[in-house]
Amino acid sequence: MILFKQAGALTEHLQRQKNTGKTVGFVPTMGALHEGHLSLIDQCTAGNDITVCSIFINPTQFNNPEDFKHYPVTISMDIEHLVAAGCDILFLPSTSEIYPTGYLKKHYDLGSIEHNLEGHYRPGHFQGVCEVVDRLLDIITPDNLYLGQKDFQQCMVIKKLLEITGRAVKVDLHICPTKRESSGLAMSSRNLRLTGQEKELAVSIYKELENIKVNLPQTPLETLKKNAKEHLTRQGFLVDYVEIAKAGDLAPSENASEADVALVAATIGNVRLIDNLLLN
Ligand code: PAF
Repeated sequence: MILFKQAGALTEHLQRQKNTGKTVGFVPTMGALHEGHLSLIDQCTAGNDITVCSIFINPTQFNNPEDFKHYPVTISMDIEHLVAAGCDILFLPSTSEIYPTGYLKKHYDLGSIEHNLEGHYRPGHFQGVCEVVDRLLDIITPDNLYLGQKDFQQCMVIKKLLEITGRAVKVDLHICPTKRESSGLAMSSRNLRLTGQEKELAVSIYKELENIKVNLPQTPLETLKKNAKEHLTRQGFLVDYVEIAKAGDLAPSENASEADVALVAATIGNVRLIDNLLLN
């Protein structure tokens, strides 16, 4: 695996490879890699000549400074995992490499998806995500981009980013299934901050999502959401939302026939977890 820290050197290297007809796949991450990320690397290596992974904890997408401060950093282990998974290139830039002096902040016109659900609880978050992904796509210009379904709203936002920046025709977006522990808990870098007991409790989020899916045909949506919220609250979660939504803009579904995905965000202890389940 080749390690690049400079954007210019990486762009030149990839351009030379592309000139020889090689395809490039890209997996953007913030490190603290787990099996979920590694499954993205697997899908990327299977579908491309060159797999690029980036590790960059992007400050502009953290609306909560405490969350940024405590974001786990496990670089040497991440490198070992990436080598074992057959990743070809790791891009490990500094903040000044991504946002150099004179870099002009852009505004992305994402429509209502920016403010729904996560957007409401994390103002500015998706502008920050778009800012860094736009920059990374400029540097890497991949043919294929791999994202985890665990961050479903982020996937929809990046799909929109590709459309509004005219990249949708050049980059194929692959949304890959969420990797789960045998308990059902969605794998996440944030799980590293859960105590043993919190980790056991956290499984309830997936159980409530499954419950919604099973009962969707015969139960009003409002009842499903209310019950899930109550169950989680009773177990000690601080629930931000339980929503049943349409894919695309994640507006609340009016009825079961337009219910594409159920989504939950809830905090246990000091850790805010999100998860979702496709309903059809
Ligand atoms: O999902 C993440 O890890 C980040 O939001 C991403 C896509 C790497 C952008 O910083």
